[in-house]
Amino acid sequence: GAPQTREQDVTKTSVLFVCLGNICRSPVAEGVFRDLVAQAGLADRIEIDSAGTGDWHIGRGPDPRSCAVAARHGIDITGLRARQLCRADFARFRFIVAMDASNLADIRAVAPAGHSAEVRMLLDFVPGMEGRPVPDPYYGGPEDFEETYRLARLGCEALLETVRAALAVGAAAEA
Ligand code: 4NP
Repeated sequence: GAPQTREQDVTKTSVLFVCLGNICRSPVAEGVFRDLVAQAGLADRIEIDSAGTGDWHIGRGPDPRSCAVAARHGIDITGLRARQLCRADFARFRFIVAMDASNLADIRAVAPAGHSAEVRMLLDFVPGMEGRPVPDPYYGGPEDFEETYRLARLGCEALLETVRAALAVGAAAEA
């Protein structure tokens, strides 16, 4: 039948990408995932955002090196603005996706008791790359930002398959 609005609307889901500053890695991941989701025709079914565990860059746009690497791959992330992860995010997002193990620990330190978000590292979704980080490129060079992009794309492609499966299970339950 027609999808109905309710507390757990299984026809929709949500993904929050999290790094330290929300200016280098998570904006690239957000941009890549938005692009993949739009191409899959799922933009109206998946809410997407990014945040940082730290507060230093709140309100700023992504690092120019992140904007440049995204632009080289046809993705515009210049309109994104940094914000800090907050407790409300654990109710608002189904998947909270960290870039590295340090992010993961910081996310868990903020998480309210009993929350039901799935907190994972991005590359955990890639078979054979479980536990591997998307390394912080902040003090690196352009090649490090290219690596950020490469890993973000690998992770986001795998993440989309997981999210798609969750939506498909939801759709079956609706039928
Ligand atoms: P991000 O990179 O976590 O990928 O956004 C960083 C950005 C800023 C800082 C560290 C990492 N910082 O120390 O200001």
